[in-house]
Amino acid sequence: MELSKQEKKKAHDLIEEWEDDVLRRYPEEPVKEKSEFRNYDDPARDTVKEFYRTNHQYQTYDFVLQKEKEFLSLDRKQMTLWEAVEYLNTMVDDSDPDIDLDQTQHLLQTSEAIRADGHPDWFILTGFLHDLGKVLCLFGEPQWAVVGDTFPVGCAFSDKIVYPGFFNDNPDTKNARFNTRLGVYKEHCGLDNVHMSWGHDEYIYHIMKDHLPEEGLYMLRYHSFYAQHRERAYDHLMSRHDHEMFRWVDKFNPYDLYTKAPVKPDVQALRPYYEDLAAKFLPDTLTF
Ligand SMILES: [Fe+2]
Ligand SMILES: [Fe+2]
Repeated sequence: MELSKQEKKKAHDLIEEWEDDVLRRYPEEPVKEKSEFRNYDDPARDTVKEFYRTNHQYQTYDFVLQKEKEFLSLDRKQMTLWEAVEYLNTMVDDSDPDIDLDQTQHLLQTSEAIRADGHPDWFILTGFLHDLGKVLCLFGEPQWAVVGDTFPVGCAFSDKIVYPGFFNDNPDTKNARFNTRLGVYKEHCGLDNVHMSWGHDEYIYHIMKDHLPEEGLYMLRYHSFYAQHRERAYDHLMSRHDHEMFRWVDKFNPYDLYTKAPVKPDVQALRPYYEDLAAKFLPDTLTF
């Protein structure tokens, strides 16, 4: 199903607003007055709030299992890495290209900052890939099932998750199977045994699962899991190994959040470097 131009613009705008909101919540320099960045009069903030209302209401355990079944067979679309990048970029708002960074630019700003700090090539490539799962939007998935903070389903929702009050409308909150601290899980069972709310992180993890080192895979899979990597709200589900690997998720997060600059990377000049990097780790075509 091909999205209309208007739908693509809507998807693009929401993603931008969500990312700005994460920045407001987790500013690089702690702001003195919390109220300075918690500006509730901001109309963009209302959009994000409405987005979370829907997200928290509908991301149930059963919904996640259904989406995993629907998408993780990975038999939808075959693309080279660059085709996928260009496909994702069709979400861009081309009415004011001077203000917004498109998706490719966000990926490149992230990966180029990682590269400038001298990190290994798999880390650079991970930065470049991390948001490719957002192609889910172009497959017609609603935004609340593509972007936004992620969190475990099948157990009680932490009040450390953004807008926790909206979980009151999630039927799992009233289901005795799911509404306890551990829910369907065992203490320290390890995140690999935990179903996360459905979105672009889990999706890109499965696409890249056989091709990147485990550290990179953790970055892909948990980069929007703010309730854990910023708030440590789910230690009770994490294994010792998860904790070790989350050091890499923590290392990755600032590159995702704090590298947005108005200077646009030169996409065509950088393309050969990233195609070589992809050739080193990835198959010629990726299956989405
Ligand atoms: Fe992301
Ligand atoms: Fe990102």
